[in-house]
Amino acid sequence: ISPKYRFFREQGLRPERQLPSALIIGVKKGGTRALLEFIRIHPDVRAAGSEVHFFDKNYMRGFQWYRNHMPATLEGQLTIEKTPSYFITKEAPRRVQLMNPSTKLLVVVRDPVTRAISDYAQAVSKKDDMKPFEQLVFVNGSVGSIIDTSWGPIKLGIYSRYLSRWLKFFPLSQLLFVSGERLVIDPAIELKRVQDFLGLKRVVTEKHFYFNSTKGFPCLFKSEGHSAPHCLGKTKGRSHPYVNPVVLQRLRDFYRPFNNHFYQMTGINFGWA
Ligand code: A3P
Repeated sequence: ISPKYRFFREQGLRPERQLPSALIIGVKKGGTRALLEFIRIHPDVRAAGSEVHFFDKNYMRGFQWYRNHMPATLEGQLTIEKTPSYFITKEAPRRVQLMNPSTKLLVVVRDPVTRAISDYAQAVSKKDDMKPFEQLVFVNGSVGSIIDTSWGPIKLGIYSRYLSRWLKFFPLSQLLFVSGERLVIDPAIELKRVQDFLGLKRVVTEKHFYFNSTKGFPCLFKSEGHSAPHCLGKTKGRSHPYVNPVVLQRLRDFYRPFNNHFYQMTGINFGWA
């Protein structure tokens, strides 16, 4: 046991569950699992293992219920939870503000075109009679027609729309946007930003990561619960289906104005094509 834990025990103090002071609110398929697994290496961070879905599906169960889903922490440890659907849940910003107006919000964002394909690849893995991506993208199923913005994988990529809702309840300074692309290319850089934002010492560094060329992603030398090097599971880093380049171009053109708006709102150019 750590000296800190021993100290607390000697004082008769027990670790207690706390409501989270930071949340990874999205976006689905952005790299949210990777971010959670990477930040929880930090000794001052304790994370709920699975998605709690409190601010969307379980809100009626109350804050006591929510706290019971959090891991126990010692004083000075930060509690974090990730549920990517919070970002797109209408009621979530108000509810999070009600819990704690100083909650820190992390959003992992990724090129909406790749994100949509990733979302689709996940759906295909759960349902084997999915129509081709190219058909689902368009209202009447053909490239010439208009893009179906009511289709989840497309709609979710209009980040600026969802972000406006959060900005009605939280100042921009309380949100940190993590680049899903950089989280793959250089996880240590993104983790440095995240630790600074959360007010943590820079403990998670390049020393924790190695690039696994079989997986094609950064993996961890060791982390909570693992003494051996390991990568994220098979559901993270799926292969994507081939998509007709004409369709890709239509999607890029579609997202461009929304992406630009998002860059303006966040003050960050994510460089999506
Ligand atoms: P793909 O499976 O499409 O490649 P989320 O956890 O939000 O569902 O995001 C899943 C995505 O995280 C994966 O999408 C993958 O690209 C990305 N990712 C980022 N870092 C990763 C890592 N170190 N290992 C595996 N996937 C990672």
